[in-house]
Amino acid sequence: MKIMMVCLGNICRSPLAEGILQDKVKRRGLDWEIASSGTSGYHVGQLPDSRSMDIAERHGIDLSGQRSQRFVPGFFNEYDFILAMDTQNYEDLLSMCSSDKERNQVQLMMDYGEDPTVKDVPDPYYGGSDGFAEVYDLLDEATEGFLQAMILARD
Ligand code: 4NP
Repeated sequence: MKIMMVCLGNICRSPLAEGILQDKVKRRGLDWEIASSGTSGYHVGQLPDSRSMDIAERHGIDLSGQRSQRFVPGFFNEYDFILAMDTQNYEDLLSMCSSDKERNQVQLMMDYGEDPTVKDVPDPYYGGSDGFAEVYDLLDEATEGFLQAMILARD
C-alpha cells in the first residue's frame, strides 16, 4: 500500500500526517510506504516547520528526514491513496485528475476522523503552537481511522 499525504506547503500538516501514519504502520509490522507533498511549491526542499517537528518529537516521531516536495500528477500512478488535508487541497487535487480512477484515489483525510462534521485539518501556519497540537490530535485520530478502514477492507 502506498499513501500520499497532501497539504498546501508540505511543511506543517502533511509531514505530520506522514510521520504519524508511518509510526502506526511500523508498530503493526505493515510494509506500507507513506509520503507527503504540497499543492504549492512555496517550500520545496525545506525541512518541516519546527513547530511540526517539535510536536512530533514530543510523541517520539522524527520528521527530520523529510523535505518538502510539490505534488505532481505522476503521483496518481505511483500511489494508491492521495489523502488531502483540507477541502481546498482536495479541490486542487481533483482539478489535476484525468480519470475517474484518479478522482476516486483522492480522499479527504478527515473523512476517516470520528466527527463527520469536521472536513478540514486547519492550516496552522500563521497561528501559535496550540494550532499544531490540534493538528496533531486530528491527524492521530484520522490516520488511526484510515488504518482501521484499510485493515477491515483487507480482512
Ligand atoms: P501546510 O501549511 O500546508 O500545512 O504545510 C502551510 C505552510 C506554508 C504556507 C501555508 C500553509 N504558506 O503560505 O507559505
